[in-house]
Amino acid sequence: MGRGGSAGTLAGPEGHGALDVVLEGLRRLEYRGYDSAGVAVITGNGIESRKKSGKLTNLLDELQANPLPESLTGIGHTRWATHGGPTDRNAHPHLADGGKLAVIHNGIIENFAELKRTLSAQGVEFVSETDTEVAAALIGELFRGEAGGDLTRAMQLACQRLEGAFTLLAIHRDQPDTVVAARRNSPLVVGLGDGENFLGSDVSGFIDFTRRAVELGQDQIVTITPDSFEVTDFNGKPAQGREFQVDWDAAAAEKGGFASFMEKEINDQPEAVAQTLLGRAGLDGKLQLDELRIDPSQLKAVDKIIVLACGTSAYAGQVAKYAIEHWCRIPVEVELSHEFRYRDPIVNANTLVVAISQSGETMDTLMAARYAQEQGAKVLAICNTNGSTIPREADAVLYTHAGPEIAVASTKAFLAQITAAYLLGLYLGQLRGNLFTGQIRDILADLAKVPAKIQTVLDDSDQVKKLARTMADTRSVLFLGRHVGFPVAMEGALKLKELAYIHAEGFAAGELKHGPIALIEEGQPVFVIVPSPRGRNSLHAKVVSNIQEIRARGAKTIVIAEEGDTAVQAYAEHVFYIPETPTLLAPLLATVPLQVFACELATAKGYDVDQPRNLAKSVTVE
Ligand code: AGP
Repeated sequence: MGRGGSAGTLAGPEGHGALDVVLEGLRRLEYRGYDSAGVAVITGNGIESRKKSGKLTNLLDELQANPLPESLTGIGHTRWATHGGPTDRNAHPHLADGGKLAVIHNGIIENFAELKRTLSAQGVEFVSETDTEVAAALIGELFRGEAGGDLTRAMQLACQRLEGAFTLLAIHRDQPDTVVAARRNSPLVVGLGDGENFLGSDVSGFIDFTRRAVELGQDQIVTITPDSFEVTDFNGKPAQGREFQVDWDAAAAEKGGFASFMEKEINDQPEAVAQTLLGRAGLDGKLQLDELRIDPSQLKAVDKIIVLACGTSAYAGQVAKYAIEHWCRIPVEVELSHEFRYRDPIVNANTLVVAISQSGETMDTLMAARYAQEQGAKVLAICNTNGSTIPREADAVLYTHAGPEIAVASTKAFLAQITAAYLLGLYLGQLRGNLFTGQIRDILADLAKVPAKIQTVLDDSDQVKKLARTMADTRSVLFLGRHVGFPVAMEGALKLKELAYIHAEGFAAGELKHGPIALIEEGQPVFVIVPSPRGRNSLHAKVVSNIQEIRARGAKTIVIAEEGDTAVQAYAEHVFYIPETPTLLAPLLATVPLQVFACELATAKGYDVDQPRNLAKSVTVE
């Protein structure tokens, strides 16, 4: 399983060598982040493969030491490990059918454990801990059996039995002029060359060889030969891909056509949340957090949770605090990692420490987690980077699946961290009996609707961008929020600071009259995150009165409110609406306009939004 990139090629005699094409494709796909890489080609000896953990250079060294013969058919993969560590053995391709079949895969096969049991019972032996090898074995068994030696048919039959998200590429020794690929909830495009054809996770995988591409739809399979490609659905019914001309340059292709990784990652957020949610509930509706390696009895004994994190990750913890306390009735303290161990904290064996870190390498958080462990606490890491130090040293890990976050300022990881923390809260609620299965199912159903709602906010963000461009000369912006809107206000302020170098500050709206309202003067822009007007204990009226207080003193109010909340219009220069959603899930939507605003304003100022001044993506010093 992996989240990196896949590349495949098939050439006629006058085409490019398979290995050159695949390695160039993997190099182009490096930006997607990965922690192992591998290739497989079809030669006179059948399938030959090389794969290594670590960076592409390790694979190139291996190929130098153990060269592969020339070939016209090949596949390659950079793996961003999620389940199963970044090792040589877990790297792709995975072989099956006695080494005659090679398969690479991006995504998550949700039912791989069940399939593995069935295949093992049929005598299939596995050498890795990945779901990909299970998919390869399934394709191999079907190729030899029901598919009668037809690789396309074997892929169709296999995909009918796979659940989850996957891009699969397969080659078989017995069909040397064919590469077969399939996609569900994971990207795959075809490149059409002259006497040769290509496959890639995105066009950057083959942009050096052709700009004619075919985008495949959901649940489609493509079979390529040197001079043909054929698309079907999973049942073998002929289907159509969408042909287009790639007009990006290679650099743009790596950013998915966006001008920056920051913009790409803001737009990756529906997928980041969806992938983090994927495969978490069993068929009985109960949550299953496979990688959570803490004994349930110890989790039941937990009487306090301390969240350790820095920056945006700390704000994710602050959002999660509201939900976890509400669902589990356990006190949650959110601590800045760099403050934690210097205040002689109260930590013991019944304390669960949750270390939230996108990079998994933040030294402040690592040192704080180590201190907590020395005090007897169990540490659970919520992390986006498989194999990094914090999850490696933790007692348990819950990975976010946002994919690599390249831009220094965190966006998609933030939403994924909140999502993962909510899954933890629901799991604890399920384990401790605070939540019934039906309640968990309802909340998971609401969470499952969030990716589409984020997309709606993204699709409606032109007005936010337009406002941002008019405010390029602004010198200070304030952000107000209440309840879960308070950490959102602080995150919005942090984005503006990091990207546009503008003084910005987030406040709890109720705190205004205790001092900060002195900051309000004529024309002062203030973002206000307004809670939903629905529900019993609506804070809506209180926040509206906070808006009135600042408007009476000259503030220019920019309001984020729930669709249909027309009451705020009388108190706002600008209103940006977000779809209706339960209060605890609103941060996953309300944050997005603030990210877009900060990115657009910084762009209008001509700043590098991917690499802001003075900042590092991972602060590995205390
Ligand atoms: C967020 O935009 C910043 N880049 C920064 O605050 C970051 O969240 C913080 O340094 C923590 O990083 P981590 O999540 O990798 O531990």
